[in-house]
Amino acid sequence: MQILTAVEPLRAALSALKSGDNSAKAGGRSTVALVPTMGALHEGHLTLVREAKARADHVVVSIFVNPRQFGPNEDLATYPRQLEADAALLEAEGVDVLWAPTVEAVYPAGYATTIQVSGLDAVLCGAARPGHFDGVATVVTKLFNQVQPDIALFGEKDWQQLAIIRRMARDLDLTQPHADHILGVPTVREADGLAMSSRNKYLTAEERAAAPALNRAMREAAARIAGGGSIPDALAALREAVLTAGFARVDYADLRDAATLEAIGVWDGRAARLLVAAHMGKARLIDNIAVV
Ligand code: PAF
Repeated sequence: MQILTAVEPLRAALSALKSGDNSAKAGGRSTVALVPTMGALHEGHLTLVREAKARADHVVVSIFVNPRQFGPNEDLATYPRQLEADAALLEAEGVDVLWAPTVEAVYPAGYATTIQVSGLDAVLCGAARPGHFDGVATVVTKLFNQVQPDIALFGEKDWQQLAIIRRMARDLDLTQPHADHILGVPTVREADGLAMSSRNKYLTAEERAAAPALNRAMREAAARIAGGGSIPDALAALREAVLTAGFARVDYADLRDAATLEAIGVWDGRAARLLVAAHMGKARLIDNIAVV
């Protein structure tokens, strides 16, 4: 595995990879998959990597703790960083390139451009974290342009992020990757249902024991809605269960159209997601599940 930190060597490595072989997976052309991450890798990320390997000839994983997606009072300084351990995990998975740019390589002096996906960025996590999705859309556009992958894979745990990146790729007519080749991979969970997240590291032992109540309450609410129950009642019960379990605050608990993220007042059977963000100790946990 090559570990690269600057754009020129990355381009050289990618062009060598792309021209170096012919593939059965894309009818004779060698393909590249990108898995963008901020590091502190866990089984959820490794599942993305394995899926990427199954779908493309070469896999690039990026690790970049993107300052532009953290608010002034958020955890940029304390976000877990463990490049060496992450590199060992990726090497063991057979990743071809670890793209770990410096902040200067991504945002050189004079950098002035922001990508904004209006509307979708203002709801749910966007309401609580103003500017967050501008930072995500901007860095993902840069990563796409740097790596020019055929496909890119993201975890469904960040459902809103995935919807925003797909919208952006459509709106900007991206081809590397095309919006249709931006793939969501189902959330990987601990045995007790807690969605895996690098931020779970912030939970104390007591908080970690209480945290699965979030997903339990979500599954109960989703079942209630799917069974024809009132959405406001189901969401109110969800909030109450989460607060009773020890969460300090619920940022949102909403039923939304899976693609447009429009709020759903009465469910008509369309693809819908139940999405929640709630605070437990130092951690802000997010999760989402389908209503079917
Ligand atoms: O989901 C993440 O880890 C980040 O938001 C991403 C997509 C790597 C952009 O920094």
